[in-house]
Amino acid sequence: MELGLSGKNALIIASSQGLGKAIAKKLAEQGVNVMISSREENKLEVVKNEILEQSKGKIKYKACDIKNNKDIQELVATTIHEFGSIDLLVNNAGGPPAGTFEDMTDEDWQHSFELNLLSYIRMIREVLPHMKNNGSGKIVNIASSSVKEPIPGLILSNTFRTGIVGLTKTLATELASYQILINTVAPGRISTDRVAFLDETAAKKHGLTIEEMQRKVKSTIPLGRYGEPEEFANYVSFLLSDLNTYMTGQTFLIDGGMVKSI
Ligand SMILES: NC(=O)c1ccc[n+]([C@@H]2O[C@H](COP(=O)([O-])OP(=O)(O)OC[C@H]3O[C@@H](n4cnc5c(N)ncnc54)[C@H](OP(=O)(O)O)[C@@H]3O)[C@@H](O)[C@H]2O)c1
Repeated sequence: MELGLSGKNALIIASSQGLGKAIAKKLAEQGVNVMISSREENKLEVVKNEILEQSKGKIKYKACDIKNNKDIQELVATTIHEFGSIDLLVNNAGGPPAGTFEDMTDEDWQHSFELNLLSYIRMIREVLPHMKNNGSGKIVNIASSSVKEPIPGLILSNTFRTGIVGLTKTLATELASYQILINTVAPGRISTDRVAFLDETAAKKHGLTIEEMQRKVKSTIPLGRYGEPEEFANYVSFLLSDLNTYMTGQTFLIDGGMVKSI
Protein backbone atom coordinates (compact mmCIF):
# COMPACT_ATOMS: atom_id res chain seq x y z
CA MET A 1 0.00 0.00 0.00
CA GLU A 2 1.38 3.40 -0.97
CA LEU A 3 1.20 5.89 1.93
CA GLY A 4 1.67 8.90 -0.35
CA LEU A 5 3.99 10.54 2.14
CA SER A 6 7.02 11.00 -0.11
CA GLY A 7 7.89 14.66 -0.68
CA LYS A 8 5.71 15.93 2.18
CA ASN A 9 7.16 18.31 4.78
CA ALA A 10 6.78 17.46 8.46
CA LEU A 11 7.43 19.18 11.76
CA ILE A 12 7.84 16.72 14.63
CA ILE A 13 7.91 18.21 18.11
CA ALA A 14 9.87 16.68 21.04
CA SER A 15 11.64 14.24 18.73
CA SER A 16 15.12 13.79 20.23
CA GLN A 17 14.10 10.40 21.69
CA GLY A 18 11.20 8.04 22.34
CA LEU A 19 7.95 8.35 20.42
CA GLY A 20 8.82 11.59 18.60
CA LYS A 21 12.10 10.19 17.33
CA ALA A 22 10.45 6.95 16.15
CA ILE A 23 7.87 8.95 14.17
CA ALA A 24 10.57 11.16 12.63
CA LYS A 25 12.53 8.05 11.60
CA LYS A 26 9.48 6.34 10.11
CA LEU A 27 8.47 9.42 8.11
CA ALA A 28 12.03 9.98 6.86
CA GLU A 29 12.10 6.38 5.62
CA GLN A 30 8.94 7.19 3.64
CA GLY A 31 10.66 10.12 1.88
CA VAL A 32 9.23 12.89 4.06
CA ASN A 33 11.36 15.98 4.71
CA VAL A 34 11.49 16.13 8.49
CA MET A 35 12.25 18.91 10.94
CA ILE A 36 13.11 17.40 14.33
CA SER A 37 13.15 19.46 17.48
CA SER A 38 13.59 19.43 21.26
CA ARG A 39 15.46 21.55 23.81
CA GLU A 40 18.81 19.79 23.31
CA GLU A 41 20.72 20.65 20.14
CA ASN A 42 23.41 18.02 20.87
CA LYS A 43 20.85 15.23 21.07
CA LEU A 44 19.20 16.44 17.86
CA GLU A 45 22.49 16.36 15.95
CA VAL A 46 22.99 12.71 16.98
CA VAL A 47 19.41 11.77 16.06
CA LYS A 48 19.70 13.53 12.70
CA ASN A 49 22.79 11.48 11.82
CA GLU A 50 21.13 8.27 12.97
CA ILE A 51 17.98 8.91 10.93
CA LEU A 52 19.92 10.04 7.85
CA GLU A 53 21.24 6.49 7.34
CA GLN A 54 17.79 5.20 6.32
CA SER A 55 16.26 8.49 5.18
CA LYS A 56 14.87 9.20 1.74
CA GLY A 57 14.01 12.81 2.63
CA LYS A 58 15.86 15.80 4.10
CA ILE A 59 16.42 15.98 7.86
CA LYS A 60 16.86 19.32 9.61
CA TYR A 61 16.85 20.14 13.27
CA LYS A 62 16.29 23.19 15.45
CA ALA A 63 16.30 23.50 19.21
CA CYS A 64 13.02 24.73 20.68
CA ASP A 65 11.69 24.84 24.23
CA ILE A 66 7.98 24.43 23.61
CA LYS A 67 7.19 26.29 26.84
CA ASN A 68 8.51 29.39 25.10
CA ASN A 69 6.24 30.96 22.45
CA LYS A 70 9.11 32.80 20.76
CA ASP A 71 10.93 29.48 20.30
CA ILE A 72 7.78 28.03 18.73
CA GLN A 73 7.46 30.96 16.31
CA GLU A 74 11.13 30.63 15.32
CA LEU A 75 10.83 26.87 14.84
CA VAL A 76 7.87 27.21 12.49
CA ALA A 77 9.54 30.08 10.59
CA THR A 78 12.72 28.02 10.18
CA THR A 79 10.77 24.99 8.94
CA ILE A 80 9.01 27.13 6.35
CA HIS A 81 12.34 28.66 5.35
CA GLU A 82 13.94 25.19 4.94
CA PHE A 83 11.06 23.28 3.30
CA GLY A 84 8.71 25.95 1.90
CA SER A 85 5.62 24.47 3.57
CA ILE A 86 4.41 22.33 6.47
CA ASP A 87 2.06 19.51 5.46
CA LEU A 88 2.29 17.43 8.62
CA LEU A 89 2.54 18.43 12.28
CA VAL A 90 3.07 16.05 15.19
CA ASN A 91 2.59 17.67 18.58
CA ASN A 92 4.45 16.01 21.41
CA ALA A 93 6.05 17.00 24.73
CA GLY A 94 7.90 15.67 27.74
CA GLY A 95 5.73 14.00 30.35
CA PRO A 96 4.54 16.01 33.37
CA PRO A 97 5.80 15.23 36.89
CA ALA A 98 4.16 12.22 38.56
CA GLY A 99 2.15 12.71 41.76
CA THR A 100 -1.22 13.07 43.41
CA PHE A 101 -3.33 16.22 43.90
CA GLU A 102 -1.75 16.97 47.27
CA ASP A 103 1.78 16.70 45.84
CA MET A 104 1.23 19.48 43.29
CA THR A 105 1.98 23.18 43.72
CA ASP A 106 0.72 26.04 41.54
CA GLU A 107 4.10 25.93 39.80
CA ASP A 108 3.61 22.25 38.91
CA TRP A 109 0.14 22.96 37.48
CA GLN A 110 1.43 25.96 35.53
CA HIS A 111 4.42 23.99 34.21
CA SER A 112 2.28 21.11 32.98
CA PHE A 113 -0.34 23.42 31.46
CA GLU A 114 2.36 25.21 29.45
CA LEU A 115 4.22 22.02 28.49
CA ASN A 116 1.39 19.58 27.82
CA LEU A 117 -1.48 21.72 26.54
CA LEU A 118 -0.57 25.35 25.79
CA SER A 119 2.41 24.28 23.64
CA TYR A 120 0.05 22.24 21.40
CA ILE A 121 -2.31 25.22 21.09
CA ARG A 122 0.52 27.60 20.22
CA MET A 123 2.12 25.22 17.75
CA ILE A 124 -1.16 24.67 15.91
CA ARG A 125 -1.84 28.44 15.87
CA GLU A 126 1.56 29.05 14.27
CA VAL A 127 1.33 26.25 11.68
CA LEU A 128 -2.30 26.78 10.69
CA PRO A 129 -1.88 29.72 8.27
CA HIS A 130 0.61 27.62 6.29
CA MET A 131 -1.71 24.60 6.13
CA LYS A 132 -4.62 26.83 5.13
CA ASN A 133 -2.47 28.27 2.34
CA ASN A 134 -1.73 24.73 1.14
CA GLY A 135 -5.42 23.88 1.23
CA SER A 136 -4.66 20.72 3.26
CA GLY A 137 -2.81 19.39 6.28
CA LYS A 138 -2.63 16.63 8.87
CA ILE A 139 -2.07 17.11 12.58
CA VAL A 140 -1.51 14.36 15.13
CA ASN A 141 -1.45 15.22 18.83
CA ILE A 142 0.25 12.77 21.18
CA ALA A 143 -1.56 12.43 24.51
CA SER A 144 -1.82 9.36 26.78
CA SER A 145 -4.15 6.48 27.63
CA SER A 146 -4.95 8.66 30.68
CA VAL A 147 -7.48 10.48 28.44
CA LYS A 148 -9.60 7.30 28.41
CA GLU A 149 -8.84 5.97 31.87
CA PRO A 150 -7.17 8.29 34.42
CA ILE A 151 -3.91 6.84 35.77
CA PRO A 152 -3.49 6.87 39.57
CA GLY A 153 -0.64 9.17 40.63
CA LEU A 154 -0.54 11.08 37.33
CA ILE A 155 -3.00 13.87 38.05
CA LEU A 156 -1.30 16.40 35.77
CA SER A 157 -1.45 14.05 32.78
CA ASN A 158 -5.04 13.06 33.57
CA THR A 159 -6.07 16.73 33.66
CA PHE A 160 -4.26 18.44 30.81
CA ARG A 161 -4.27 15.63 28.27
CA THR A 162 -8.02 15.44 28.26
CA GLY A 163 -7.75 19.09 27.15
CA ILE A 164 -5.92 17.87 24.04
CA VAL A 165 -8.87 15.62 23.23
CA GLY A 166 -11.32 18.54 23.52
CA LEU A 167 -9.05 20.73 21.42
CA THR A 168 -8.69 18.05 18.74
CA LYS A 169 -12.41 17.34 18.51
CA THR A 170 -13.29 21.04 18.27
CA LEU A 171 -10.61 21.83 15.70
CA ALA A 172 -11.64 18.86 13.55
CA THR A 173 -14.90 20.69 12.87
CA GLU A 174 -13.38 24.17 12.58
CA LEU A 175 -10.67 23.01 10.15
CA ALA A 176 -12.54 20.48 8.05
CA SER A 177 -13.41 22.99 5.31
CA TYR A 178 -9.65 23.57 4.80
CA GLN A 179 -9.09 19.81 4.40
CA ILE A 180 -7.04 19.81 7.59
CA LEU A 181 -7.50 16.54 9.49
CA ILE A 182 -6.53 16.39 13.15
CA ASN A 183 -6.44 13.41 15.51
CA THR A 184 -5.15 12.44 18.94
CA VAL A 185 -3.14 9.29 19.62
CA ALA A 186 -3.07 7.90 23.14
CA PRO A 187 -0.15 5.59 23.98
CA GLY A 188 -0.59 3.02 26.73
CA ARG A 189 2.78 1.49 27.53
CA ILE A 190 5.34 1.97 24.76
CA SER A 191 8.99 1.17 25.68
CA THR A 192 10.71 4.55 26.03
CA ASP A 193 12.78 6.37 28.67
CA ARG A 194 9.59 7.98 30.00
CA VAL A 195 7.98 4.60 30.66
CA ALA A 196 11.21 3.30 32.23
CA PHE A 197 11.16 6.34 34.55
CA LEU A 198 7.51 5.74 35.50
CA ASP A 199 8.25 2.05 36.21
CA GLU A 200 11.22 3.02 38.36
CA THR A 201 9.12 5.53 40.34
CA ALA A 202 6.30 3.01 40.84
CA ALA A 203 8.74 0.22 41.79
CA LYS A 204 10.27 2.40 44.53
CA LYS A 205 6.84 3.36 45.82
CA HIS A 206 5.67 -0.27 46.06
CA GLY A 207 8.99 -1.69 47.31
CA LEU A 208 9.45 -3.83 44.17
CA THR A 209 12.31 -4.32 41.74
CA ILE A 210 11.82 -2.76 38.30
CA GLU A 211 11.47 -6.26 36.78
CA GLU A 212 8.73 -7.14 39.30
CA MET A 213 6.98 -3.84 38.60
CA GLN A 214 7.11 -4.39 34.84
CA ARG A 215 5.76 -7.94 35.19
CA LYS A 216 2.86 -6.50 37.20
CA VAL A 217 2.10 -3.87 34.54
CA LYS A 218 2.43 -6.33 31.66
CA SER A 219 -0.10 -8.64 33.36
CA THR A 220 -2.68 -5.85 32.85
CA ILE A 221 -2.02 -5.66 29.08
CA PRO A 222 -3.96 -8.28 27.07
CA LEU A 223 -1.14 -8.53 24.50
CA GLY A 224 1.21 -9.21 27.44
CA ARG A 225 4.00 -6.81 26.51
CA TYR A 226 4.92 -3.18 26.10
CA GLY A 227 4.62 -1.69 22.62
CA GLU A 228 7.66 -0.71 20.58
CA PRO A 229 8.13 2.91 19.44
CA GLU A 230 8.25 1.67 15.84
CA GLU A 231 4.80 0.11 16.15
CA PHE A 232 3.48 3.38 17.53
CA ALA A 233 5.11 5.28 14.66
CA ASN A 234 3.40 3.01 12.10
CA TYR A 235 -0.05 4.05 13.32
CA VAL A 236 0.87 7.73 13.40
CA SER A 237 2.29 7.49 9.86
CA PHE A 238 -1.00 6.07 8.66
CA LEU A 239 -2.95 8.96 10.22
CA LEU A 240 -0.59 11.43 8.54
CA SER A 241 -0.67 9.65 5.20
CA ASP A 242 -2.78 10.11 2.06
CA LEU A 243 -4.59 6.89 3.04
CA ASN A 244 -6.25 8.75 5.89
CA THR A 245 -8.90 10.74 4.07
CA TYR A 246 -11.90 10.36 6.39
CA MET A 247 -10.76 10.09 10.02
CA THR A 248 -10.62 13.35 11.93
CA GLY A 249 -11.37 14.50 15.49
CA GLN A 250 -10.72 11.02 16.88
CA THR A 251 -8.68 9.69 19.77
CA PHE A 252 -6.91 6.42 19.03
CA LEU A 253 -5.59 4.22 21.82
CA ILE A 254 -2.36 2.40 21.02
CA ASP A 255 -2.17 0.23 24.11
CA GLY A 256 -2.22 -3.51 23.37
CA GLY A 257 -5.75 -3.61 24.81
CA MET A 258 -4.69 -2.20 28.21
CA VAL A 259 -7.51 0.31 28.73
CA LYS A 260 -10.63 -1.52 29.78
CA SER A 261 -13.29 1.08 28.86
CA ILE A 262 -15.43 0.63 25.73
N1 LIG B 1 5.81 6.09 26.05
C1 LIG B 1 4.57 5.85 26.43
O1 LIG B 1 4.09 4.71 26.47
C2 LIG B 1 3.69 6.98 26.84
C3 LIG B 1 2.46 6.69 27.47
C4 LIG B 1 1.61 7.75 27.81
C5 LIG B 1 2.00 9.05 27.54
N2 LIG B 1 3.21 9.28 26.94
C6 LIG B 1 3.57 10.68 26.70
O2 LIG B 1 3.97 10.88 25.35
C7 LIG B 1 5.02 11.86 25.31
C8 LIG B 1 6.24 11.27 24.60
O3 LIG B 1 6.56 10.08 25.29
P1 LIG B 1 8.04 9.46 25.29
O4 LIG B 1 7.87 8.17 25.98
O5 LIG B 1 8.64 9.54 23.94
O6 LIG B 1 8.80 10.50 26.26
P2 LIG B 1 10.37 10.77 26.46
O7 LIG B 1 11.18 9.60 26.05
O8 LIG B 1 10.49 11.29 27.85
O9 LIG B 1 10.67 11.96 25.42
C9 LIG B 1 10.20 13.24 25.67
C10 LIG B 1 10.68 14.20 24.59
O10 LIG B 1 10.21 15.49 24.93
C11 LIG B 1 11.27 16.43 24.76
N3 LIG B 1 10.98 17.58 25.61
C12 LIG B 1 10.79 17.59 26.95
N4 LIG B 1 10.54 18.83 27.39
C13 LIG B 1 10.54 19.64 26.29
C14 LIG B 1 10.38 21.02 26.10
N5 LIG B 1 10.11 21.87 27.12
N6 LIG B 1 10.50 21.53 24.84
C15 LIG B 1 10.77 20.70 23.79
N7 LIG B 1 10.94 19.37 23.92
C16 LIG B 1 10.84 18.84 25.16
C17 LIG B 1 12.51 15.64 25.11
O11 LIG B 1 13.67 16.16 24.50
P3 LIG B 1 14.78 17.11 25.21
O12 LIG B 1 15.05 16.55 26.56
O13 LIG B 1 15.93 16.97 24.25
O14 LIG B 1 14.18 18.48 25.20
C18 LIG B 1 12.18 14.30 24.46
O15 LIG B 1 12.55 14.31 23.10
C19 LIG B 1 5.33 12.24 26.76
O16 LIG B 1 4.59 13.39 27.09
C20 LIG B 1 4.80 11.06 27.54
O17 LIG B 1 4.44 11.40 28.87
C21 LIG B 1 4.04 8.30 26.60
